[in-house]
Amino acid sequence: MTPIGIFDSGYGGLTILKEIRNRLPQYDYLYLGDNARAPYGARSFDIVYDFTLQAVRHLFDAGCRLVILACNTASAKALRSIQQRDLPLIDPERRVLGVIIPTVEALDAISATKHVGVVATPGTIMSHSYRIETAKLFPQISLSEVAAPMWVPIIENGEADGPGADYFVKKYCDEVLAADPLIDTLLLGCTHYPILLPKIRRYMPERVNIIPQGRLVADSLADYLDRHPEMAHSCSKSGTMRFLTTEAPDKFNRLASLFLDSPVEAARITLQ
Ligand code: DGL
Repeated sequence: MTPIGIFDSGYGGLTILKEIRNRLPQYDYLYLGDNARAPYGARSFDIVYDFTLQAVRHLFDAGCRLVILACNTASAKALRSIQQRDLPLIDPERRVLGVIIPTVEALDAISATKHVGVVATPGTIMSHSYRIETAKLFPQISLSEVAAPMWVPIIENGEADGPGADYFVKKYCDEVLAADPLIDTLLLGCTHYPILLPKIRRYMPERVNIIPQGRLVADSLADYLDRHPEMAHSCSKSGTMRFLTTEAPDKFNRLASLFLDSPVEAARITLQ
């Protein structure tokens, strides 16, 4: 079996898997969450790169020919090095794709005012990947970047629906609006954040469109597979989903089932 590999530091990538699976249900998917070492958001470049490369190698060893880094932090800090330095040595025929470029590519069509806010982990914001890629493609867009360091820990700890989450959701929503009161679009630049969407909606003015990345990434993957029939043919198509976690599977199964609205049975692995 040659599934499409989907990697995230934890549960966030499940929001991407869900949309990819809706869009491309025929393929097999192998999800890997490095829950034991999540969050990645505040970790250094070198550590995020090391952890991400270990995960990519694991997914390759499990048969994947195509791996999606369904994590903005890993896409910002590790993707380019893996594509340019590691893939040519590991296997030039395999591919690793990220989530930042497919998201940025959709921005111009979404924003009318050309004032866009992006919330993401400190690591993604400090890399300025969104600002750099947006400036390249759409210099007319003014992009305000705000780090929301507490959102991933709240979600990884199963507190997204709790009353404590409201304080931190409002705090970072207020920061985005203070950074640029003219925004008509708020991009959720972290794959965990769609879980907080009902609360984010509550603290954003109605005129602001809140954009999760899942559908954008799924559309971009479908387009990639259309343009690369050799890759599309080499990925197996039995419509299955399997899950790997570096933490206790019981905990993963409970939370992941909530993310996907269907039962999940994960196997535990060790990355090194
Ligand atoms: N889902 C990851 C992202 O998109 C979360 C990063 C983290 O582990 O902090 O950035």
